Amino acid sequence: MVHIRLPKNSTVKEGIHHAVPTDSVTDMTTRTFQIYRYNPDIDANPRYDTFEIDTNKCGPMVLDALLYIKNTTDTQLAFRRSCREGICGSCSMNIDGTNTLACIKPIADIKGTIHINPLPHMPVVKDLVADLTQAYKQYASIKPWIQSTQEPSMRDGEVRERLQTPEEREKLDGLWECIMCFSCSTSCPSYWWNQDQYLGPATLLQSYRFVADSRDNATNERLNDLDDSFKLYRCHTIMNCTKTCPKGLNPAKAIGVLKQEIISKSIVEN
Ligand code: SF4
Ligand code: FES
Repeated sequence: MVHIRLPKNSTVKEGIHHAVPTDSVTDMTTRTFQIYRYNPDIDANPRYDTFEIDTNKCGPMVLDALLYIKNTTDTQLAFRRSCREGICGSCSMNIDGTNTLACIKPIADIKGTIHINPLPHMPVVKDLVADLTQAYKQYASIKPWIQSTQEPSMRDGEVRERLQTPEEREKLDGLWECIMCFSCSTSCPSYWWNQDQYLGPATLLQSYRFVADSRDNATNERLNDLDDSFKLYRCHTIMNCTKTCPKGLNPAKAIGVLKQEIISKSIVEN
């Protein structure tokens, strides 16, 4: 069930119906898209607009249909996208009840009307564009860069890479692939209810990405900072994050390992 943050005392109304052009082809290729529309600057209420489109005229992914609608029917439709290859993370939205990336979600995988909403429980900038200001502030708070006290390697008098063994590098697999789409965080009820304090699965997976990195020497500081009843321990292992991640990552496991690392550290210290 999708929960959208709505303006106070408002309900989503039925919006404009854009029928498929009559010169278009058969019902076999016509698909109906029901899309959340809301401009907080001018609209009292959000609405769902319906677009019928001939999918023969666009590419196979949901993002292709959104681009087709924007180019042919409604230039005002707002959504984010950049790479169209599942790499930049900007096209994350709720499609057919699941947070995912529109550019790698095949239209053919969805039965019936295709319902498209912004990422749940986030303020809406416009239409399918969720406001990620708080999420990025939280990401910045974990200092997502390598903090090293060691000198980098030198070769021929020049500063070179900080080297890792293959085993050290392997520990980053399942972490470096995260594209910060926030599909996981915005699928998590704990994050919906406490996003002012709980960091959420995306930021916590990134936290572990630096804790796990052999080139980083700030592990203690990072773990001390996370050892907080809200920042980390609001995770109740609901697992929505892992279920929804469009890159097949496991933020719940990363959070579990962070909790273990904090316990191990406190045992050593005591
Ligand atoms: S863990 Fe997956 S769902 Fe979460 S931000 Fe990274 S890529 Fe997106
Ligand atoms: S457009 Fe970049 S991930 Fe979808």
